[in-house]
Amino acid sequence: MSEKLSTQPYKGTRDFYPAEMRLRNWFFGVIRRELENAAFEEYNGPMLESLDLYAAKSGEELAGKQTYNFVDRGGRSVAIRPEMTPTVARMVAAKIGEMTFPLKWFSFPNMYRYEATQRGRLREFWQLNVDIFGCDGYEADLECILAAIRILRAFGADEQMFTVRINNRRFFNDVIAAVTGEGADAKAISKVIDRRAKVPREVYERDLTALGLTPEKIAKIDSIYNMTVREATALCPDSVGAGELLALFEQLEQLGVDSYCKFDFGIVRGLDYYTGTVFEVFDNAPENNRAMFGGGRYDNLVGLFVKNAKVSGVGFGMGDVTLENFLTSHNLIPASFGGGKKVLVARFDDVPYEVYLKLTERLRDAGICASLYLGQKKFGKQLEYAVKTDCTHLLVLGGDEYARGVVKIKDLAAREEREVPLKDIEKAFD
Ligand code: HAM
Repeated sequence: MSEKLSTQPYKGTRDFYPAEMRLRNWFFGVIRRELENAAFEEYNGPMLESLDLYAAKSGEELAGKQTYNFVDRGGRSVAIRPEMTPTVARMVAAKIGEMTFPLKWFSFPNMYRYEATQRGRLREFWQLNVDIFGCDGYEADLECILAAIRILRAFGADEQMFTVRINNRRFFNDVIAAVTGEGADAKAISKVIDRRAKVPREVYERDLTALGLTPEKIAKIDSIYNMTVREATALCPDSVGAGELLALFEQLEQLGVDSYCKFDFGIVRGLDYYTGTVFEVFDNAPENNRAMFGGGRYDNLVGLFVKNAKVSGVGFGMGDVTLENFLTSHNLIPASFGGGKKVLVARFDDVPYEVYLKLTERLRDAGICASLYLGQKKFGKQLEYAVKTDCTHLLVLGGDEYARGVVKIKDLAAREEREVPLKDIEKAFD
């Protein structure tokens, strides 16, 4: 073959070289600590699922247009997961009798979506999923929103930097019915409202008009976008969703985290399975105008798998791409991730190889990150390698040191050197 293969990863995917991997591991470490501290437990599931799983409830855009799928050799229609919620609902359903509800779970799966790639949207991304199963009350919705706020605060973010926009599908449907009259297609209207920020105003008006809304009704809906939660819920005070919204906002106020949150009638979410509270977290930096987190309550997903099962869920997904954009825009990524000591053992010809091997293994046994220089190069090259690979210390054990039973430790940052007895080397790093 004369043409060389491309070194580029597939469109919309990324290679994670060690530097990128370090960053991702740092993200996940901060998030994992925060969620475990709030008593969430980690789970995972397969990357391949039956295509039917998404066809049922994920909505036409995700299931029909964005899912990578194929027929396997056994004739099964298989999807590469575009989202985690159907998988986690399936897992809960499969062991429903053994579970102690409410469950508080999280996961960091990678997802694939055939999307037009753009800032904040790729074809492969990692998505934190946080979900609570088996609590029908707004308390679980609140717990998820608090987890989202805690996660961003753990990175040093404040209320100037992000906003949690909250609505409620039950409330939304009741308001649309009240404004447009019975018989209006609330689902189709919700899709137009969901796309509102992404299309020109004329397209929004044209689509609502096509669904039978008069200019007066469109104006009425417009007026709700700027309302506070109390003003909006007064429009439909008997709506169950209005009660849920008010209870939720009251507790957010009590906890003093309402400054991070805003009622937003324009948040309806594109996925079909949401039934109650819905929310998205937005980055307030103008260059990152996409949702970082999206989620909500879905009362009927587990019921797709188990007849008559009534286990509700609520949760959210957060992508690593938008999180990284957020942290970069707000200068929240530290210069280094507080790595510990990393020792390189230099190698010289006049000392037997096994002496170095044993020394390196002793350091590792003591829990010190250590590596023996691989190969035989001049000392200068070994020192350069240590500096370039972020080693904190270089150990020098040449013929002279070996004869005296000592090792030289070079502190590469402080540019200092000291000698310690070879037999006590582990203690030198206490
Ligand atoms: P979603 O709104 O489709 O919801 O995605 C949630 C988040 O995943 C988005 O806000 C964004 O951060 C990230 N995301 C989505 N698509 C992409 C993409 N192409 N590239 C990069 N990041 C992306 C769901 O997936 C729901 N299953 C979330 C959920 C969990 N609801 C309840 N539990």
